Amino acid sequence: MTQPLLQVNDLAVRYGDVQVVWKADLVVEEGAIVAMIGSNGAGKTTLLRAISGMLPPYGGEIIFAGEIVPASAPPEFVRRGLIHVPEGRRLFARLSVWDNLMLGAYLRDDKAAIRQDVERVFALFPRLRERRWQDATTLSGGEQQMCAIGRGLMAAPRLLIIDELSLGLAPRVVDELVDALRKVNAAGTSLLVVEQDVATALEFADHAYIVDRGRTVASGTAAVIAADPAVRTAYLGL
Ligand SMILES: Nc1ncnc2c1ncn2[C@@H]1O[C@H](COP(=O)(O)OP(=O)(O)OP(=O)(O)O)[C@@H](O)[C@H]1O
Ligand SMILES: [Mg+2]
Repeated sequence: MTQPLLQVNDLAVRYGDVQVVWKADLVVEEGAIVAMIGSNGAGKTTLLRAISGMLPPYGGEIIFAGEIVPASAPPEFVRRGLIHVPEGRRLFARLSVWDNLMLGAYLRDDKAAIRQDVERVFALFPRLRERRWQDATTLSGGEQQMCAIGRGLMAAPRLLIIDELSLGLAPRVVDELVDALRKVNAAGTSLLVVEQDVATALEFADHAYIVDRGRTVASGTAAVIAADPAVRTAYLGL
């Protein structure tokens, strides 16, 4: 059996004295699209932050590409190819789309490959090319998400983690993002996506995890999770 790209074992995370993630166990196979779903405040963002090195775990371990990732600063995670597109997009104000994209590549010095990757981002999201000199925070919501994903891609991710892919976006834009991400995935990048629209998430992903009160409480193929009566009642409103 091949080893998974990401394996999270028994992860716990605290903010000071307040424990938010109690026990998270999660696997992302190489090449997979994995969705994480759960109610507001369940701890999804916190869990993703710990996985990408933005918060130190309080317990448990994160194994990426077969190596335990030591608790360290985010650049170490970025170097390994573990890239996080944050909730709320967090683009840099007063910087152009181009500069925001280039900041995604801040740890790279392979100029020719960076150039190719920016072309790849523009091919995925032609609107970003048209607007490359515009202040990124003046983009529409959908364009900002494209820019945030593009910035993530500029880091040459092996695993791209996206928190709240579709939040606040029109269905047509969400379809566009999902199409683009399928291409990114087909080109070899694995995806871990938190998505509040559970129907979209289960349509998009191969595999899904449910997070409830800081614990991963269920997982399975997207089809199995979608057919789970508890999921249908609690998350799909059926
Ligand atoms: N910086 C922080 N300091 C203290 N508590 C926090 C902090 N950030 C989040 N929390 C708390 O941790 C819990 C989980 O929050 P988190 O943002 O991880 O949930 P979530 O599942 O991403 O929710 P949502 O679906 O609303 O984005 C919440 O109770 C929240 O109030
Ligand atoms: Mg969140």
